[in-house]
Amino acid sequence: MKALVLSGGKGTRLRPITHTSAKQLVPIANKPILFYVLEAVAQAGIRETGIVVGDTADEIRAAVGDGSAWGLRVTYIPQEAPLGLAHAVKISEGFIGGDPFVMMLGDNLLRDGIKEFVKEFEEKRPNAQILLAKVARPEQFGVAELSDGKVLRLTEKPKDPRSDLALVGVYMFDSHIFEAVESIRPSARGELEITDAIQHLIDRGLRVVPHTVTGWWKDTGKLEDLLEANRLVLESQKPRNDGATDRSSKIEGKVVIERNAQIIQSTIRGPAIIGENSSVRNSYVGPYTAVYHHSVLENCEIEHSIVLEHSMISNVRRIEGSLIGQNAVVTQSPAKPSAYRIMIGDSSRVEVP
Ligand code: G1P
Repeated sequence: MKALVLSGGKGTRLRPITHTSAKQLVPIANKPILFYVLEAVAQAGIRETGIVVGDTADEIRAAVGDGSAWGLRVTYIPQEAPLGLAHAVKISEGFIGGDPFVMMLGDNLLRDGIKEFVKEFEEKRPNAQILLAKVARPEQFGVAELSDGKVLRLTEKPKDPRSDLALVGVYMFDSHIFEAVESIRPSARGELEITDAIQHLIDRGLRVVPHTVTGWWKDTGKLEDLLEANRLVLESQKPRNDGATDRSSKIEGKVVIERNAQIIQSTIRGPAIIGENSSVRNSYVGPYTAVYHHSVLENCEIEHSIVLEHSMISNVRRIEGSLIGQNAVVTQSPAKPSAYRIMIGDSSRVEVP
């Protein structure tokens, strides 16, 4: 059994963050999403892991290395352009060889990992196994139609979905998938869709079995989903204080304060996490907030947000539902006339009161 983790793609729905970095490396509760995926692979007892990489290959390699931190042996597989999930399978044939494999998207987060899913495949040995979850907006996903527990049809992002069962970004295949990815044509969005390749297996009468997600699942491709994933992970964290907190600060609920972090004259109301070497002074950090390493918050209030590394928020009344990028500065300007003075990246979004 091998694993194939997809970590290419452009991350268009997370611009401008993804203009400069990989969407799979955005931290959820101060840990890159991709690391949760690699943990899930390792927990399922798999060692040999291929990571398909695109434009952000260098950054992914720098973060993951040889995979030994997770007990994995990682091989990088470059994809020249984001031509689809089925294209990623196609170019990985040499690495996979004749082995069965689990494929997981590097931006999908599952509370319960993939251990049970992999176990069921090993017991039943179908040709493919898909993972399904009920969702409110099925038209944004691949959608499965089932009958008597069998997969009838799969459709990629249908306008009129015939069920509310979305395809989660975790799949298992035997080597029949390689012939399927050769047989399909690009979709309307110009990609070779894995959904179409699995439909091809069904059409040929091969055995494709469904498995339903236990616990929660999040595809973190959009800001709201990232914030929601952050909320879900923070909720289950164990409180810990490895930093320094002064006497006038209040730490309430599930709060993690990492090494060398400083909390001064502030209230941190969990679930929240303050990263290594970050400082919070005269501020309020509210529930569902993750502040990554080396950031500075002073005289501000922030809630339900993610702040990336080396950023500064100062003298700002209240920030909510926000994602602040690396090396960003959000501050009140003393200069007159008082006005918004903004330099933001392409495809950014700013909402003001
Ligand atoms: C991809 C798949 C889709 C699946 C989704 C899960 O969509 O094409 O079938 O439901 O991942 O995250 P994409 O993120 O490429 O739009």
